[in-house]
Amino acid sequence: MDQVNGSVVTEFVLLGLAQSLGMQLLLFLFFSTFYVGIILGNLFIVFTVIFDSHLHSPMYILLANLSLVDLGLSSTTVPRMISDLFSDCKIISLHSCMIQMFFIHITGGVEMVLLIAMAYDRYTAICKPLHYLTIMNPKMCMLLVVAAWTIGVIHAVSQFVFVVNLPFCGPNNVGSFYCDFPRVIKLACIDTYGLEFVVTANSGFISMGTFLLLIASYIFILVTVRQYSSKDLSRAFFTLSAHITVVFLFFLPCMFLYVWPFPTKSLDIFFAIVDFVVTPVLNPAIYTLRNREMKVAMRRLSRQVVSSRDLM
Ligand SMILES: *[C@@H]1O[C@H](CO)[C@@H](O)[C@H](O)[C@H]1NC(C)=O
Repeated sequence: MDQVNGSVVTEFVLLGLAQSLGMQLLLFLFFSTFYVGIILGNLFIVFTVIFDSHLHSPMYILLANLSLVDLGLSSTTVPRMISDLFSDCKIISLHSCMIQMFFIHITGGVEMVLLIAMAYDRYTAICKPLHYLTIMNPKMCMLLVVAAWTIGVIHAVSQFVFVVNLPFCGPNNVGSFYCDFPRVIKLACIDTYGLEFVVTANSGFISMGTFLLLIASYIFILVTVRQYSSKDLSRAFFTLSAHITVVFLFFLPCMFLYVWPFPTKSLDIFFAIVDFVVTPVLNPAIYTLRNREMKVAMRRLSRQVVSSRDLM
């Protein structure tokens, strides 16, 4: 950050994940398999929920929305990362870099609010079963989804406005395989201490706050259920453990990337991969493999496809 020579940086250099050809091939196979899984799995959930009227309950509608957002979140970084694996110069224009950061934070923000909405849905279903249908009506569901997108956009814009006009004139090595606020801000050739605080406060404490809220609400749900019977508890625990797994896997990397004051390059990369590659494939895996209703719906759907083919 010391070499301010007046030249204006218009592109950044991203980090290569692999040097040797063998490693490049291995990572290529690994990431493309996951990315195809993310696309197919999440689209599959979206279509199953849309076309099966048995799944038109708030839980599944929110899940389909989460699947779409998961797809968007990983598409902000993974295709570029895969195509960069084999290229020698991993250069990204300032413009694309800004767009990438913007969409990462919109989709990330929406994902967080949707996870809260899904926890609220489970809380209502389990702790207030008699009022479930009146509280989680279609209007409420729509409201939660609109709120998620509004908050996601506000969250992204409120960081973007500080970064979009930053002057860059010195080193342009981002130091990761994608652009994100904490790393790009460090490359600006002005004193960015205040900005770093803005990003940590915004992204970091929002992810930490959301995480604590979610964990507290799941504990609250479990404690409430325990007062009834142990059979209810085990069933609730089964549903909730899926949600809790996703919450941990999504938020621990987020908190590390934004709050932890001593970033380590290799850990950073590992955690980013968990958020962009592993969590988005996990939702379809958890909800289709562990969920009886979803399996029944899949069977119904395949029967319909088969019988409609017979009619033709
Ligand atoms: C997302 O939620 C909205 C509002 O409830 C709903 O109308 C829409 O169908 C959902 N999207 C998907 C893909 O299910």
